[in-house]
Amino acid sequence: MYPNTLLSQTEINLWYNYNNRSLKRIPHLNMATYLITGGAGFIGSHLAERLLKDNHEVIIIDNLSTGKRENLPSNIKFYQEDICHQSLVRTLMRKADACFHLAAVASVQKCQDQWLTSHQTNLTGTISILNAAKENHTPVIYASSSAVYGDNTQLPLNELADKIPLSAYAADKLACELHANVASQAFNVPTIGLRFFNVYGTRQDPNSPYSGVIPIFLKNITNNQPITIFGDGQQSRDFIFIDDVIDGLLAAAKHCNCQSHVLNLCTGKQSTLIELYQMLEKITQNKIECRFKPARQGDILHSCGNTKKAKQILNFEAKVSLYHGLKQLYNLHQF
Ligand code: NAD
Ligand code: UD1
Repeated sequence: MYPNTLLSQTEINLWYNYNNRSLKRIPHLNMATYLITGGAGFIGSHLAERLLKDNHEVIIIDNLSTGKRENLPSNIKFYQEDICHQSLVRTLMRKADACFHLAAVASVQKCQDQWLTSHQTNLTGTISILNAAKENHTPVIYASSSAVYGDNTQLPLNELADKIPLSAYAADKLACELHANVASQAFNVPTIGLRFFNVYGTRQDPNSPYSGVIPIFLKNITNNQPITIFGDGQQSRDFIFIDDVIDGLLAAAKHCNCQSHVLNLCTGKQSTLIELYQMLEKITQNKIECRFKPARQGDILHSCGNTKKAKQILNFEAKVSLYHGLKQLYNLHQF
């Protein structure tokens, strides 16, 4: 629909600005400006690297609670601040063509241990980002998680499968999706939520009890330390390599232009922890000592995503197998 020609030029301009904003803002233009929250973290720093390589401008806000400044080039626009700092977030959002919202307390276990403070970041922080995006209808591509499916056994999980959050982390991620939908429906903010499955790659911090299983295992193996499996090792995950995740994020930015979507970002393949352990023995050509401890509270048993919707909407397909991703990681010795 076009504006009534009886309108004044100013009114016509306003109409175009309002109605075409999301179109104008489709950020696959050469040299767009992207705001990345959590850009000093594992996934965020890889994304920043790729965007800079493609000649885009990148602005980062990160409180460095788990991220590291050295993950990023020294000349990048970097704000060491909390995403709940609304006035700063609004100022930065005004400069951005699109926002990748990745900041979160990413450890399921840490969110169980620190329920209230992690909720402040994981949900209130997300609303802070969406609220700032309202002003200019800035597209927001945000990290949700496969954790929202909880112990749903209808594998591979498609996006419509029941959501049964088992942890504070998962409950907040599901709530982020609900608020993103509100941002889209009520405030015309284009959003795409990506339910990342278990991501692994370089720069994933191995040094905290809250780190992901792959960096912890690789670090222990390198230091000739035993690894620990929580539970019987039959729990399974859909492990996706960081390069694939970055491809998925960029594809989402291209398609984030009008309505709100939520999509799985996964490989569609499932590996148990015992299989992961055996694969690592093969790659390192070493016998690895393994201990077992009781399963973690809130831990999901099985997780594997359905890839169809991401293929349909983003034309996204993961390319790297777990074996090749692990091999690449091990050979680089960067974990
Ligand atoms: P990460 O911990 O490496 O990165 C998160 C970043 O957010 C860190 O740099 C941290 O300092 C920053 N941050 C945390 N709280 C903040 C706050 N209040 N204000 C500003 N910055 C803050 O984790 P990651 O693995 O890179 O995860 C990125 C996103 O992807 C998160 O939203 C996470 O929940 C989600 N996710 C990750 C995985 C995975 O397997 N790694 C899977 C599913 C979803
Ligand atoms: C991970 C992500 C979370 C994401 C979710 C998506 C991290 C830290 N967490 O959670 O952000 O939303 O995937 O599915 O990246 N385990 C061991 N030994 C260890 C460490 C872990 O047996 O030393 C087990 C855990 O109990 C769990 C499995 O390995 O069963 C995976 O754990 P973890 O890597 O922490 O990931 P998730 O909890 O799946």
